[in-house]
Amino acid sequence: MVPGTTATTATPDHRSSPRPLGLFPPGTALAPDGALRIGGCHVAELAERYGTPALIVDEGALRDRARRYADGLAARRTNSAVAFASKAFPCTAVYRLLVEEGLGIDVASGGELALALAAGTDPAKLIVHGNAKTDDYLRAAVEAGAGLVVIDNFDDIERLEHILGDAHGREQAVLVRVTPDVRPDTHEAVSTGQRGSKFGLLLPQAREAIARLRGSSRLRLDGLHVHIGSQILDTEPFVRAVEAVAELGEFPVYDLGGGLGARYTYDDRPPSVEEYLDALASAADDLLPSGARVIIEPGRSMVAEAGVSLYRVVTVKRTGGETFVAVDGGMGDNLEVSLYGQRFEATVATRPGGPDGEMCRVVGQHCESGDVLSASVPLNDPRPGDLIAVPVTGAYTYSLANNYNAARRPPVVFCRDGRSRPVVRRETYADLMRRDLP
Ligand SMILES: Cc1ncc(COP(=O)(O)O)c(C=O)c1O
Repeated sequence: MVPGTTATTATPDHRSSPRPLGLFPPGTALAPDGALRIGGCHVAELAERYGTPALIVDEGALRDRARRYADGLAARRTNSAVAFASKAFPCTAVYRLLVEEGLGIDVASGGELALALAAGTDPAKLIVHGNAKTDDYLRAAVEAGAGLVVIDNFDDIERLEHILGDAHGREQAVLVRVTPDVRPDTHEAVSTGQRGSKFGLLLPQAREAIARLRGSSRLRLDGLHVHIGSQILDTEPFVRAVEAVAELGEFPVYDLGGGLGARYTYDDRPPSVEEYLDALASAADDLLPSGARVIIEPGRSMVAEAGVSLYRVVTVKRTGGETFVAVDGGMGDNLEVSLYGQRFEATVATRPGGPDGEMCRVVGQHCESGDVLSASVPLNDPRPGDLIAVPVTGAYTYSLANNYNAARRPPVVFCRDGRSRPVVRRETYADLMRRDLP
């Protein structure tokens, strides 16, 4: 245990843990003064050193999650691989950490490809996605030696063949992205496997693409890809997606995508990583060829629970029967609420409380009423100057951070064994003007 902490820590699979620690990274503890310690680091010291808002990442929790995924899948399917869907946290330090843990990387743009390469990803472990891949992006992927390119449409085939024509007889391994006509129960903006999705090809067109690729001298068809969406809290739609791809014949490789949901609130009950892997592996055992390689691409569920956002309370306003706790961040650093209606919990970081606190609405500082971090959460006597911790912010907050109201994007700080290190600095006002032309 970290010296100076009490015995109250979050459990490794904290699915039934109560407030105040249940949603924080495993290993989060209370210091003797009652404040949170994340990765062994006292929240007040983190705020003092790095300012607020700040995105704190428990490095140990992230590494543990990567191992749970990699070891868990390998134990269930010997010929398998885990690639991090890097759109969930496209930060070089995060890529580097997950590459150190042996994961491959899924990229969906030239920018993500550049970050993955800068982080030292083995190009053979890159999976190249996108529903609108430009020539430049595809050329960069081919030149980097990317292991797999996922064909989303017929133009991808033409473009790649053309690019490979210039690449001195190189061959490129590809997968075909299948739209399985499965609609999981999640926000429509992040549902991708249904008929009408812009991603992939429905079964009849997928068959056509397969036939075309079988006739290609430059593209080697290794298999199929399917990804039905994000923040999915039930294993059954994943199984239906495997059933759909199995109808297309036998292949050496199946990439079954990502999509497992994270536990954002005390009421959420997502399947554990192990329950999810059990469901996928048994569907693969039942429906796919026995020696086939199974790849998965978790994004959200890899990084969400390792992240905590720290804010400073600017004002507390009681009006119209509501208590508004306004902090120094908001939809500039966390767009998940306004984009997808994602619900987050929050706590006063130096005085975490139970369910008996004052019901508050934690709001941001941006010029929209939708700028809410936590719509209704019990807080323990919130006051201006307090620190607020919002747990489970590791996924898609850094990716979607923006400069609304010319806000400076926050730093990313890794914490482990009581030591902290910044891996991304806070933007400066000069950064906001850096691209201006005279
Ligand atoms: C192709 C692909 N794979 C994996 C993912 C990761 O999904 P999640 O972050 O929900 O695990 C995405 C996200 O949208 C995706 O588009």
